[in-house]
Amino acid sequence: MSLTPRFPVFLHGGDYNPDQWLKYPDVLEEDVRLMKKAKVNCVSLGIFAWAALEPEEGRYEFGWMDAVIDRLWKAGIRVDLATPSGARPAWMAQKYPEVLRVDDRFQRRHFGGRHNHCPSSPVYREKVRAIDTALAERYAKHPGVILWHISNEFSGDCYCPLCQEKWRAWLREKYGTLEALNDRWWTGFWSMAYTDWSQIEPPSPVGQDANPAMWVDWRRFSTHQCKDFILMEKEAVHSVCPEIPVTANLMQRFFDYDYFDLSEALDVVSWDSYPGWGLDDVKAASEHAMTHDLMRSFKDRPFLLMESTPSLVNWQEVNRVKRPGMHLLSSMLPLAHGSQSVMYFQWRKGRGGSEMFHGAVVGHDGTADTRVFKEVRQVGEALEKLAPLYGAPQEKPRVCILYDYSCLWALHYAQMGSEAVKDYPETVNAWYRALWKMGVAVDFRDMREETDLSGYALVIAPTLFMFRGGIEEKLRRFTEQGGTLAATYGCGVIDGDGRAFLSLTPHALTDVFGAVTEELDVLYPSQSNAMIMDGREWPVTGVCEVIRTEDAEVLGTYRDDFYAGRPCLTRNRFGKGEAWYLAARTDEAALTALLDGICRSLGIPRALSVPLPEGVVARDRGGCVFLQNYSGREQTVTLPDPRTDLLTGASLSGEITLPVCGVMALARG
Ligand code: GAL
Repeated sequence: MSLTPRFPVFLHGGDYNPDQWLKYPDVLEEDVRLMKKAKVNCVSLGIFAWAALEPEEGRYEFGWMDAVIDRLWKAGIRVDLATPSGARPAWMAQKYPEVLRVDDRFQRRHFGGRHNHCPSSPVYREKVRAIDTALAERYAKHPGVILWHISNEFSGDCYCPLCQEKWRAWLREKYGTLEALNDRWWTGFWSMAYTDWSQIEPPSPVGQDANPAMWVDWRRFSTHQCKDFILMEKEAVHSVCPEIPVTANLMQRFFDYDYFDLSEALDVVSWDSYPGWGLDDVKAASEHAMTHDLMRSFKDRPFLLMESTPSLVNWQEVNRVKRPGMHLLSSMLPLAHGSQSVMYFQWRKGRGGSEMFHGAVVGHDGTADTRVFKEVRQVGEALEKLAPLYGAPQEKPRVCILYDYSCLWALHYAQMGSEAVKDYPETVNAWYRALWKMGVAVDFRDMREETDLSGYALVIAPTLFMFRGGIEEKLRRFTEQGGTLAATYGCGVIDGDGRAFLSLTPHALTDVFGAVTEELDVLYPSQSNAMIMDGREWPVTGVCEVIRTEDAEVLGTYRDDFYAGRPCLTRNRFGKGEAWYLAARTDEAALTALLDGICRSLGIPRALSVPLPEGVVARDRGGCVFLQNYSGREQTVTLPDPRTDLLTGASLSGEITLPVCGVMALARG
């Protein structure tokens, strides 16, 4: 399927901000020439262009944009057209301060920066709707416009009186009565009971900051606010022309909103991926591979890589340039995981402003002679060669990892344990990384009502602290009917409202695991324990849950402490399936050993059926295997069958050599 039916090819390009360059007509002409040379076929236009589009209230200036879109169109370059709501003109902030966000200390922001609007402000909504409608009326019929880019990287919350009113209305709708709210938020503790709806403010560091259930609700409400704003913008452009799909660019390791929920408002999921290359490339690649799979999972469809850097960023503590070859390798990572694009921030470096030193395809020298430019062109060429993969059907993964935003928030806000228990994304990534290195494809699912686990052979539930949406019933049925379930410490402790289950844990699943949790112990970073399994010791750090078994078989035990000799890894047959429970935080080698055994016994396919050296990963997309070398060293791999590298046309068999940062797209035959 194509995400951009008006232009069904792999997109290559990125953020194009000609509004910075309107006084440099030669630069604008040169841009198109250089874009052709770089094999750019699509740009994201006008993302922060409101001040240039509406320099005075109600006076639109579309002339410059007409010229840009036409010039691009003549050169065969398509447009992902942005709505400009990510930043607003100074006149608007001055005349209508209510468009600006109020922070969590209840202070109204001043003009400046971006991503700081109030999502409730009727004035802001009216202004956004008006400019979105005007953009749609002017450009939606233009054949060069293929996608709507709604705003930019939505994030954060607003604490203004209007948003507070909406928060209270949302709570009323959710809980019905104050009694129910007080019960769910457990406000009997510390005299926190509310006796009137008007007493409820949002959680904040200067007010109610210690109630985890309230914080989780606030994040859900914030998601709802953002989704509502996106739907308003979507409606504005679709009421003119419903044909062009809508996206909004999402982010990595994002915390503020529930992306499974937010994605319902989008036609196309896209995201901005900025790994910190040059330190631990395998780890960086695994984290971003995981986010690619998460993005694909939100809608169970391909996604777009909306932004990445052609060379470096300017906002890390250490901003390294990509080493030679890394640009092609890192651009093939999203492709391998289902992206229909490789896009950048930004096309040309600005002369000033906060991002003047951020990487761009064209630098301040304005030429095509740079290493960066040449490597970008190489990606453009690669995407053309990979055209046969564009619509190729993808086999459904047989492994599912549960990743749930409410669980992420609940762990974050819970006052307990240590960072080792609470760093949910890292815990999930550790499991993901082991599978990714084996070449096993993975889907992500959350705990929403409609989640269906029935098609999977293996479901992994890392630190599934919260149970909601009937997940315990689904996991029980899944195992009973023959599935393999693997869970870890901290499982099934609180309900969807954030209250502790008054039961043995993992709640309602102790018979499925044949084990019961007794205590959750954590270690200081300088401490360690070990799991003894098959006569071998596997290092344990951070978390040691003390469990007792009922029916489960004990496969690993603790080496030290008062729980020495007690179970650490268990397996229980339940119905036609089995449930594994890993009570401690082990290293990657232990997870790999465990998952390797499970995947083999379930016959789960791998991208390549041969052992791969450390740092070399294989990923199957539509029958083509992307073999990628993140190890920083030359590596050899023995192919199980003859292949053709789509990137070079070479026929390969037997032992092949992958250079540093090498990547191949290996089609069968
Ligand atoms: C993204 C943002 C871009 C640019 C880029 C720099 O998060 O959407 O506008 O700021 O980061 O890396």
